[in-house]
Amino acid sequence: MPQILDGNRVRDAIKTELAPRIAALTALGRPPGLAVVLAGHNPASEIYVRNKVKTSQELGIHSETLTPPVSVTTAELLHTVECLNARDDIDGILVQLPLPPQVDAKRILLAVSPTKDVDGFHPCNVGNLVAGLPGPRACTPAGIIELLHRYGIPIAGKRAVVVGRSDIVGKPVAMLLLHQHATVTICHSRTPSLAAVCREAEILVAAIGRAAMITGEFLTPGVTVIDVGTNRVDNRAEVARIFRGSPEKLAAFDKRGSVLAGDVDPLDVVEKAAAYTPVPGGVGPLTIAMLMANTVASAERRAGIC
Ligand code: GUN
Repeated sequence: MPQILDGNRVRDAIKTELAPRIAALTALGRPPGLAVVLAGHNPASEIYVRNKVKTSQELGIHSETLTPPVSVTTAELLHTVECLNARDDIDGILVQLPLPPQVDAKRILLAVSPTKDVDGFHPCNVGNLVAGLPGPRACTPAGIIELLHRYGIPIAGKRAVVVGRSDIVGKPVAMLLLHQHATVTICHSRTPSLAAVCREAEILVAAIGRAAMITGEFLTPGVTVIDVGTNRVDNRAEVARIFRGSPEKLAAFDKRGSVLAGDVDPLDVVEKAAAYTPVPGGVGPLTIAMLMANTVASAERRAGIC
């Protein structure tokens, strides 16, 4: 049986380590402050944001959620962000993506002060990442590196293949793996012979957003698989196909109308991998843990502690 890389366990360890730093900041004057901007009613974003707020509260981080309507304009959101930039009690600003289609998302991300950019999405911080300079790193990629380190999985000298080239996961995780001395290939929808390229991976990061797309033929025996996908499958036949008729998954589907599936085939990965992240309970919890870590680090920098 492969090793299961338990994101909940690592998240709990990170939270435990953050607690004294948050207590020290609070004793100095005020707790770290995080503002989350959630525009519109994307159900997946609403769940993410609820979990972010809940985790902040558990840790004693002050958090605020701003919920502009789905009709919000770029100018209105720019104003919201500028107000948050100016507030002393806010150390971190997160603008939940995706934004409604009429909003110029790149302009909004550019407006977030780089010193409060806890997502690591501002071009200054993307530049810091590429240059290997200090600065906040995108949360999901940072969580993936943290998970590999804490499970003692070596990265240096390994062949890493990242499937997906998004600004949120694919590009930054490739850069972080490169900084850890992996030999990195980034693949995407136009990569020829995708399965053959993936079979070269000793570490495979799947961040495509298509349920169970990475099947056994993409996996070389002994690979470490990091599955970033959280795809909601709302078709019963699809659930039956992906989970090979699993009575538990079908019962869950019948109760809730959908089940979550990663980007990697959940049965093939067990057969072939040496270690893998489950969905749910793998990468997801780490994204939030790293957001908390980035918020605390931002508060410390702003308080002149480090
Ligand atoms: N949408 C999906 N993942 C993320 C993330 O890490 N940060 C933000 N801001 N939006 C997201």
